[in-house]
Amino acid sequence: MKKYFLLLLSTISYYANAQTISANSPDGNIKTNVIIAASGEITYAVTYKNKPVILSSSVGFKFKEPAITLSQFDLAKTDTFVYDQSWKPVWGEYNNIRDYHNELKLSLKEKTSGVLLNVVFRIFNEGVGFRYEFPEQSTLKHFVIADENTQFHLAGDHKTFWIPGDYDTNEFTYYTTRLSGIDAGNSKTSQEIHAKTFFNKDAVQTPLMMKTADGLYINIHEAALINYPAMNLVLDKTTLTFNSHLVPDAVGNKAYLITPAKTPWRTIIVSDKATDIIAANRMILNLNEPSKIADASFITPQKFIGIWWEMHVGKSSWDYAGGQVGSQQQSRVPHGANTANTKRYIDFAAKHGFKGVLVEGWNVGWEDWFGKWKEDVFDFVTPYPDYDVAELGRYAASKDVKIIMHHETSGAVTNYERWMDTAYRFMLKHEMNAVKSGYVGRIIPRGEHHDGQWMVKHYERVAKKTGDYKISVDMHESVRLTGLHRTYPNWIASEAARGNEFNAWSSGNPPEHETILPFTRLMGGPMDYTPGIFQIKMNVYDPAKKEQVHTTLAKQLALYITMYSPLQMAADLPENYEKHMDAFQFIKDVAVDWDDTKVLSAEPGDYLTIARKAKGSPNWFIGAITDEEARTNTASLSFLDKNKNYVAIIYHDAANAHWQNNPMAYGIEKFIVNSNTVLNLKLAPGGGAAISIMPANASELKTHKKYKK
Ligand code: NOJ
Ligand code: CA
Repeated sequence: MKKYFLLLLSTISYYANAQTISANSPDGNIKTNVIIAASGEITYAVTYKNKPVILSSSVGFKFKEPAITLSQFDLAKTDTFVYDQSWKPVWGEYNNIRDYHNELKLSLKEKTSGVLLNVVFRIFNEGVGFRYEFPEQSTLKHFVIADENTQFHLAGDHKTFWIPGDYDTNEFTYYTTRLSGIDAGNSKTSQEIHAKTFFNKDAVQTPLMMKTADGLYINIHEAALINYPAMNLVLDKTTLTFNSHLVPDAVGNKAYLITPAKTPWRTIIVSDKATDIIAANRMILNLNEPSKIADASFITPQKFIGIWWEMHVGKSSWDYAGGQVGSQQQSRVPHGANTANTKRYIDFAAKHGFKGVLVEGWNVGWEDWFGKWKEDVFDFVTPYPDYDVAELGRYAASKDVKIIMHHETSGAVTNYERWMDTAYRFMLKHEMNAVKSGYVGRIIPRGEHHDGQWMVKHYERVAKKTGDYKISVDMHESVRLTGLHRTYPNWIASEAARGNEFNAWSSGNPPEHETILPFTRLMGGPMDYTPGIFQIKMNVYDPAKKEQVHTTLAKQLALYITMYSPLQMAADLPENYEKHMDAFQFIKDVAVDWDDTKVLSAEPGDYLTIARKAKGSPNWFIGAITDEEARTNTASLSFLDKNKNYVAIIYHDAANAHWQNNPMAYGIEKFIVNSNTVLNLKLAPGGGAAISIMPANASELKTHKKYKK
């Protein structure tokens, strides 16, 4: 480990009895000042290229037990380090990640109680992370946190992309207002979310994205959320200061800790380029611990299909009773997860090269699964009578496909914890090694919240235990991600934001939604967004339906690139793909694991263009998307190998395409391109473009035209 002790890294100065300790990013652009006032109060401030990012903001705690406040300290010592080392993720957007930062560690002693506390800052070229450490000490062993008093004092009334603060959900659409315009009590989409716990109209969630009047992009989040509640931010509008607000437990406490203990990192990413913010999600990864999975060979990034969208659009049901012909339920739709239908999906997967088939509604319990806050909902091992789990395991294996298990907990997490081992053994017995879990509804233990310490520990237990069984897990309705997939790469994705499914049965996600998510939710890790919906309007399933996906078909293809995940669903029905096999080819071709990523253009809430190189392959893929505005995104292909020709297949919006009036109009063109090519990608309102770029062979060089602007 290259971790050198370097005294010269920080400077200490004294002014009016206050002591200032400064440390910079390796490139010198980011400067962090820690000020210890004569009273012992500690504040920090951050600048980027001499512009203020965080003004003087306090750090500290209030404990419930022992009943003390940690706000005034004596400085025992400061340590500084420089760290520069690269590592290789099991899967990801890059095959190699450099962790280059300066560290400043303050060892403090609270003035009255004598409690020891360290505050550790890591300053990267991309931003700053800091956390609190409670070392082992005779003065403090067990303690209960009432409040963490971390502040983020902003220097102006910035443009802000926010969702309401909440203890239980993150499935909101985004609001774009000035900081002073935040009003979390006025959320139009909160009625569409089942379990939610609103607590303060001035509260927002992280990752929080802001833009200053002079063009700085600032992102606040946290990294390595372990054994601690998630942090919401409550704005003091008079000073434009965010105060941390931890999600409480059933009796109002925030966290129960034993020394030695450390909090998650609080992160501030900053740049004058929006493209840099997205690339800086690596800083969050760097603040997480290396992988704990010794043999990661069972973890397979993959595309999958599933018996899933057909329930969301109302074509079939999760519950068996809904499908009983001859019963009183006759008029209801059929049960989706039956053996014959599952074989149909397995056949489609095998034919088109997909390795996974998700099946929801396979197990007994869906008749009464939801909204009752009851504890024994599912047992995760009892299939419905029309679902032959053993036969399907064999059938899938014979076609080199695996069924992806579904564990909807219905929020009854005590019940799930009792069944976990049995359920994972059942999966392995029937040839499954990936599970999608879900936490719809209020949590049991009753009174706990999705984002509190108890649940944060549960998600980690699931990641560990599935890892022990060599199973990968994709969690829905979990806490937002904080880079823990570095530590647990079998925790392969999460939903933890408003997914594409909302377009099937609610007011949906506006066209700008996917231009904001990469700056917010995705900063913490991959999202199972479920892209690839080709049949955009829901009235084909029922003429009375008014819902639609707020997109063009071409934009759904682009999302495979712009919404990074090692697990990507081709979410639509096989019969809808069969009508558009030419466009479906892109989903078949696109990779899910990458050597390199280039964010070519980006503006939160407006547009995004990303290029990625497939892992171990010369192929590149580009996705470009826009909000409700038509625009032309340019993409320079200078990253291609010099002196080499490639075929680019461009899947684009038709000239008259429009997310609302004409969403399914697309065109496909092939051109010869090279590293001098600059593509002009015309995007319809709510539209996008997807491009695959592969080395050209001699006959393709003859057949296809060279790309001209
Ligand atoms: C919500 C999940 O996000 C969705 O994917 C799933 O189909 C339903 N819960 C049922 O578990
Ligand atoms: Ca969901």
